[in-house]
Amino acid sequence: MGPLTFGNTRFTPAFGALPCLLSAVIDRGMTELLRDDETGISRAAGLLRDGALVAFGTETVYGLGADATNADAVAGIFAAKGRPHFNPLICHYDSADAAFRHVVPDARAQVLAAAFWPGPLTVVLPRRDDCPVALLTGAGLDTLAVRVPAHRSGLALLRAVGRPVAAPSANRSGQVSPTTAAHVLAGLEGRIAAIVDSGPCVVGVESTVLDLSGPQAVLLRPGGATLEAIEAAIGPVVQGATPGAALRSPGLLSSHYAPSLPVRLNAEKVGADEALLAFGAPLSGAGATFSLSANGDTAEAAARLFEGLRALDTEGRRLGLRGIAVMPVPATGLGLAIRDRLQRAAAPR
Ligand code: TXA
Ligand code: MG
Repeated sequence: MGPLTFGNTRFTPAFGALPCLLSAVIDRGMTELLRDDETGISRAAGLLRDGALVAFGTETVYGLGADATNADAVAGIFAAKGRPHFNPLICHYDSADAAFRHVVPDARAQVLAAAFWPGPLTVVLPRRDDCPVALLTGAGLDTLAVRVPAHRSGLALLRAVGRPVAAPSANRSGQVSPTTAAHVLAGLEGRIAAIVDSGPCVVGVESTVLDLSGPQAVLLRPGGATLEAIEAAIGPVVQGATPGAALRSPGLLSSHYAPSLPVRLNAEKVGADEALLAFGAPLSGAGATFSLSANGDTAEAAARLFEGLRALDTEGRRLGLRGIAVMPVPATGLGLAIRDRLQRAAAPR
């Protein structure tokens, strides 16, 4: 059996294909869809070491990976995503020890690493003088954002690469983050070398980003690790919704995660000409409904958030609806991250 090709994507069977054929395929701008088995992971690791871009699953969202020590490869991430500025990227490691060889951890970072890694927490720490990560990865800052993802094949890939992997979410800039390989393909097919398909992401929103480079811990982005759990581990955290924090974490700025239909928050009624993103018992009367969690569970809702925004955007446009109405979500647990992403989805463009 030869490789299966659909659209602009090539599915490489587990037993592989001729390398010369594959490079010809990549040169023509095709994207390999790899399984998350040993063969797929070793192919993906080889591509990353060679400076190519490979999307891979993590517990939060799919990341668009590049060798973080290779500035050309990292520049490729910004080009593929159409990211307008060189925002700093998160470096992914297979262990806390590996991460802390590149940044300087203090006592808080050690406690958090023990409590949360592998897991959906990113910490920003000072770079070590001998840190081999390309300056472009951290947008020239003297700090670096590091994390160890809790994901079987993601970790296997990081181990196989043997270098830090820079990875923003694997979507075109400003669009909704991908939680399946199909979402990645929809935005980046033909622009990246490969995707490791590991199925849907279980957390569904990005990692929490916590700045530990100063005396006070600052929450730069709410995410998969809850503020409550972080504060239980290290004490009070400053919430970073200040202009200074926004500058320190450019991903916090303006419209982001945006579907093409307008988004209306905290809906208490819904029209037949609107799509509804429901939390808890759905409001009646919408033109289309996607339920984040029927029983009001914020973890379940986070895992379904980006899928729901995409589904309603597609369905709403198909039906000619005027926008997406979103029911209120509480600010507790993963609700904080969900509300943050929804506010960005609703922000003026
Ligand atoms: O869950 C996640 O974090 C995913 C997966 C793939 O790991 N990655 C992700 O990366 O969401 P990205 O690039 O979309 O978001 C990184 C965030 C941005 O808000 C960026 O500004 C911030 O982290 N960041 C990165 N390095 C930073 C630094 N040195 N100082 C302050 N903020 C930083
Ligand atoms: Mg992103």
